[in-house]
Amino acid sequence: MGAESNYGGAGVGYMDGTYLPVAEMRIPITDMGFQLSDMCYDAVHVRNGRFFRLDDHLDRWEQSISERRYDTLNHSRDQVGEVLHGCVARAELSDALITFVATRGSPASAHKDLRSCKNRFMVWAMPYYAAIEDAEVEQGCEIIVAKTVRIAPGSVDPTVKNFGRLDFVRALFEAYDRDARYAVLPDQDGHITEGRGWNIFVLKDGVLLSPDRCVLEGITRKTVLELSAKLNIESRLAEIPIEMLGRADEVFLTSTAGGIMPVCSVDHRAVGDGAPGPVTLRLKEMYWAMHEDPAYSVPVRYEIAEAL
Ligand SMILES: Cc1ncc(COP(=O)(O)O)c(C=O)c1O
Repeated sequence: MGAESNYGGAGVGYMDGTYLPVAEMRIPITDMGFQLSDMCYDAVHVRNGRFFRLDDHLDRWEQSISERRYDTLNHSRDQVGEVLHGCVARAELSDALITFVATRGSPASAHKDLRSCKNRFMVWAMPYYAAIEDAEVEQGCEIIVAKTVRIAPGSVDPTVKNFGRLDFVRALFEAYDRDARYAVLPDQDGHITEGRGWNIFVLKDGVLLSPDRCVLEGITRKTVLELSAKLNIESRLAEIPIEMLGRADEVFLTSTAGGIMPVCSVDHRAVGDGAPGPVTLRLKEMYWAMHEDPAYSVPVRYEIAEAL
């Protein structure tokens, strides 16, 4: 593989108080975000010029920065919101994925006392993309169950969204070696958890289940639970043994990056008849319809850019 990268080739970012092209964003190697993965982030999207569930993302963000003790970030919730709008408006994007990050920052001396760091805040807005290929979003993707175990919540809290992801990296190389592109990781006790960038759902005998531990509390996951209630489909968070995945009637992934994404095979064995199932397709349709509803979305303030 090893193709020329165009990742980050378009979009507008913000760091150290300034807006700039994403391709020009840099952090110093002394930032503990780089050296220790001492960072957290959130990612929200814009569809047809509207942010989806922005308040939910800001709530999760505030919880993350509080738990990680980023006390010197100096950006209030309103200021963070302003910058999110500012990046999308400046990038003139109607469909965007916006990542906002806090890093610990650089320490005062080589002894690296973390309390001496000035936390860093940065944002970037890029054209919208899914966690899997566009064709797979339509037809379904192939996943494997990795042997690599998800990092234990007692070590790194998975509800704080973060880039400390060497478990995912190891699992993805397992997938590549087994002729697949995506991997779901088990926990220590043989239950499935999540993959890099997504939660997972399993439909079995009319009941929709998603893992109840060792995972990020995804906002798309929350949306699916709400939508399934509207469809009168029983849904709940539960322990899901690895074996249940192989016997599922439908399986799909959920993420801000891509929405509801069907899985057509697990460990190279077809899920159902190998095509996206009816419940997956119905939820997907309802999910995208929700984006126009003012109860769940707010318009981007494009006038911020025009006023410059
Ligand atoms: C590890 C992990 N799990 C789950 C998700 C899905 O979360 P959300 O639906 O809030 O995008 C993500 C999103 O990037 C993620 O990184």
